[in-house]
Amino acid sequence: MTGLFITLEGGDGSGKSTQSRLLSDWLAGQGRTVLGTREPGGTPVGVLIRDIVLHHRGEVAPRAEALLYAADRAQHINTTVRPALARGEVVIQDRYLDSSVAYQGAGRVLGGTEIRDLSLWAAEGLLPDLTILLDLDETTARGRLDDANKRFDRLEAEKADFHRRVRAAFLDLAAAEPDRFLVVDAAAPIDVIAAAIQARVTTLLR
Ligand code: TYD
Repeated sequence: MTGLFITLEGGDGSGKSTQSRLLSDWLAGQGRTVLGTREPGGTPVGVLIRDIVLHHRGEVAPRAEALLYAADRAQHINTTVRPALARGEVVIQDRYLDSSVAYQGAGRVLGGTEIRDLSLWAAEGLLPDLTILLDLDETTARGRLDDANKRFDRLEAEKADFHRRVRAAFLDLAAAEPDRFLVVDAAAPIDVIAAAIQARVTTLLR
């Protein structure tokens, strides 16, 4: 049996972990061995890198940040993902190189192409068989995350603008590679989304 590499992408709060769990259970029910993993932080080295990129207080320069995500990716793909695929397993991964293009690119300092090239160098060219984009408009995403009477301020507005750019970048990536991407409306009911994902994965398993 050949391995299958599936990634999930989308903004914060779009429901990636729920859908990866449902997909994993469904595939396991069909007798497939599934490895659920994530970036950043899918390896012991990655856990250390994740702590820097997500929790370091103080500035991290854009190129340094991009290289940290790429270093996490290089270690993860080499030591965890490729071996699992070689064993014929299905790898279901929360976030991959499209997150780098969308998030690091949305900072406006680095270009999407150079970030993608850096990621592909780190991962020795590995692209997913399928990337599921859980698309959610930023107002709904914020509504899910926010306290209803939180005050609007400039920082919040900047954040909203950033998330709009991230979402637009994901949709552009999906439009550029329609064969690799499945775009689903993350505002739809959980079981409707899961069924759409299962239908697409079924075509890949044939
Ligand atoms: P995580 O806690 O995994 O959040 P989520 O539940 O939204 O997946 O945090 C991952 C954060 O890292 C998320 O805000 C996106 C960001 N990220 C990048 O900026 N670049 C990357 O290459 C990756 C993989 C993640």
